[in-house]
Amino acid sequence: MSDDPTSQANFLHVASTHIHFDWHIDFAAKVIKGVATHTLLVKEDGVKEVVFDTAALDISKADVGGEGVQFTLDPSHPVMGQALHILLSSVPAQGTTLKVTIHYKTTADCIALQWLDKEQTQGKAHPYLFSQCQPTYMRTLAPVQDSPFVKTTYTADVHSPLPALMSARRVAPPAVGPSHDGKVIGTDVVTYKYDQPVPIPSYLIALAAGNVVYKSFEVPAGKTWTSGVWAEPELIEAAFWEFKEDTARFLATEETVVPPYRFGVYDVLVLPPSFPYGGMENACLTFLTPTLLAGDRSLVDVVVHELTHSWFGNGVTHANATHFWLNEGFTTYMERVLQEKLHSPAARGFQFLLGAKGLSDALKSYADRPKYQRLIIPFDKGEDPDDAYSEVPYEKGANFLLHLEQTLGGLDVFLPYIYDYVNAYTGKSITTDIWKEHLYTYFRAHGGVEKIAALNSVNWEAWLHGEGTELPVKMKYDTTLAQQAYDLAAKWNAARGNENPAGTFTAEDIATFNSNQKVVFLQTLQAYPPLPAAHIDTLGKVYGFAENTNAEIRLRFYEVALQDRVSLSASKYTPPALEWVVGTDGSGVVKGRMKFCRPVFAAAGEVDHVLAKQTFEENQLAFHPIAQKLIAKDLHLV
Ligand code: BES
Ligand code: ZN
Repeated sequence: MSDDPTSQANFLHVASTHIHFDWHIDFAAKVIKGVATHTLLVKEDGVKEVVFDTAALDISKADVGGEGVQFTLDPSHPVMGQALHILLSSVPAQGTTLKVTIHYKTTADCIALQWLDKEQTQGKAHPYLFSQCQPTYMRTLAPVQDSPFVKTTYTADVHSPLPALMSARRVAPPAVGPSHDGKVIGTDVVTYKYDQPVPIPSYLIALAAGNVVYKSFEVPAGKTWTSGVWAEPELIEAAFWEFKEDTARFLATEETVVPPYRFGVYDVLVLPPSFPYGGMENACLTFLTPTLLAGDRSLVDVVVHELTHSWFGNGVTHANATHFWLNEGFTTYMERVLQEKLHSPAARGFQFLLGAKGLSDALKSYADRPKYQRLIIPFDKGEDPDDAYSEVPYEKGANFLLHLEQTLGGLDVFLPYIYDYVNAYTGKSITTDIWKEHLYTYFRAHGGVEKIAALNSVNWEAWLHGEGTELPVKMKYDTTLAQQAYDLAAKWNAARGNENPAGTFTAEDIATFNSNQKVVFLQTLQAYPPLPAAHIDTLGKVYGFAENTNAEIRLRFYEVALQDRVSLSASKYTPPALEWVVGTDGSGVVKGRMKFCRPVFAAAGEVDHVLAKQTFEENQLAFHPIAQKLIAKDLHLV
């Protein structure tokens, strides 16, 4: 049994098993008018009420089994929202099934939803709406038991004047038929029906509505699942090209390691630029930032990451925020195993090297809150998991699994174990203790004393509960693909006394680098003392980094330029960095992915707080509500 620090729902006593949503999307009012009908299972005798999580919902009525009932809403908690108590008129016996229906509307304070005006879309002709529910925002879209410990199936009828997508299988109208069922897009209301027959946690429920079209990918012979991409018509060809080679291929390769894909459909949706993440593994429908459309397939590893969640997270789920690393650490580890399988061992090593800087920065940034440096985070009730969101669960988690793999005898030994783990816990929500217990049980049966001795040699305390800025074990990775980038960074460091850097360095230096190697180069530079201003100018010009349209590279350039917050370079590059992020650089495109906008605002805030604050306030509405909330915290505005 497992309490959840972010939820007030009484799911240990009575738990949702299925939800039906009936939603009317009103773009003019920016409101969803909804009915949520929960089927619940009573888990023990003596249950007097059903408690749901809600936040910023306008609830008008509730009934149980068709009979109107009283409900009460608790005062609002800043993270957990308002507990909704539905009083039961009689006390049901354990094993009883209840049906609870709640009528409600979303409000302007709905954090899960961003309503975009037509100007904020690619086509500029229709508005757009999308959700982001992880970690704790589904409760602002509908009353639910908003804990990953609870898994439900769901069905939905979405009445919308624009094509509507959900994290489920499409029942009607057909995805491959005429757009919007042949009706007038933006005017006629069409009912979109969805069915998610696989039980999923509430954070994977998702909705998007806008002028989107579909193009399907080719899938290897013999597969029962389909795969394709959704995007606005203006982007569909670029999106199709970027992902068509890798999506189905990686999914099929993953199936050689773990049990078959269970969700029937694996689609990706390319969102408008304010989407706050790189990717979000919504069931059946991964959401992606449009910044992945680099035109060279260099950023598809984000898709590989999200599809890997189909097993780690969407299949085996963390019981609550304390065990979040089980989702992200396993996914990151497996994503890199696939890189080794489809590319090379060097490709896997390179991904770990690429991630090392982010891990080190994240660990350092939590010097004042060291519990967020841990893999298992002891959250207080009501503490915000978004405050703990960082590279730590991803990278420390993936390194921990790599360390276990190496300790136990390598991939040949470890991958069969991974299969067994997924097979044993798919459909369940688990804690780290349960994971560890299974690991021991598996290796007791497969290898015995020798493997158990290996497991006992692991410093569990340091890996799971340790704080500090270093990993418990110094890891070794294949550096083949990073070496040139390291050498070039060393050359720049050695040339820092050079009066005329523009004469020393040329575009030729990086001619053979792919974009990730450029990122590693820029990350490595930051391990040295900040470069002189003239050198940073040269770096930006000669290598084209200051204008680079690959956001991963552009961000790292600004990080180099702002590394010394009181330098000439920092004051010179803070305004363009802010303009790039809010899109007033002429691009008109906001960099809503928090990986890009948060570090820029945070650094800019330390260089020129007045400018950072003013830029944020003037452009705030371009960002998703989650990004607005976190940037405001980063700038100490709240
Ligand atoms: N599930 C996460 C995104 C997330 C985590 C949203 C926690 C809200 C709360 C997603 O799978 C993810 O990890 N995205 C990364 C991708 C990257 C690691 C390849 C991102 O957006 O940067
Ligand atoms: Zn992830």
